Amino acid sequence: MKFFLDTANIEQIRNGVHLGLVDGVTTNPTLVSKEEAVFEERIVEICQVVRGPVSAEVVATDFETMLSQARSLASLNEHVVVKIPMTVDGMRVVNVLSSEGVKTNVTLVFSALQALLAAKAGASYVSPFVGRLDDVGNDGMQLVQEIIEIFSNYGFATEVIVASVRHPMHVLQAALMGADVATIPYDVLLKLFNHPLTDSGLKRFMSDWQMYERKQQQ
Ligand code: E4P
Repeated sequence: MKFFLDTANIEQIRNGVHLGLVDGVTTNPTLVSKEEAVFEERIVEICQVVRGPVSAEVVATDFETMLSQARSLASLNEHVVVKIPMTVDGMRVVNVLSSEGVKTNVTLVFSALQALLAAKAGASYVSPFVGRLDDVGNDGMQLVQEIIEIFSNYGFATEVIVASVRHPMHVLQAALMGADVATIPYDVLLKLFNHPLTDSGLKRFMSDWQMYERKQQQ
């Protein structure tokens, strides 16, 4: 299972890479808007740190402009994956990019049928937004299960990125379901390390070892 970091923050990305856990990065216009950097420069910077797929999103909705933006983003670095929204024009763009060998990540996927359309258009990745579905009383992870089943039924090569991850349970469920990727906010990635029994167990080992050493010195 691959872990992507869901951020445009270069410090978080550097830290994640130092942990040895980051296989790629996803960004979106909201994440980029939180940063001071120039968009294209930040994408290149991320590609130099990560050495894996880096999703950069188009910021238009019509076919021609999305296609032109996508080609320009793809030319920034070989690791760029162009994020395209799940719309009619978006899937036309994915179709063209796929024939040109440009990798794509179809974003804002909220139904299994949308994922099927993206796969048929030739998307490299689909991103079901599980947290946003949970927010409106739907079951985000159920959607992931359906997409995995459909892709497996037909042997689609499109990879499933579990996106809009809010907590460690999303990551655990994604792993149990065999999702290809979870794209994880940095704070959630750090939470994956935690267990209170690890903390108390370590504290006990340390204090017992100190007692043992004191005894040895007597
Ligand atoms: C990733 O590709 C998505 O853009 C991101 O996970 C969305 O997350 P959010 O619902 O927390 O904004």
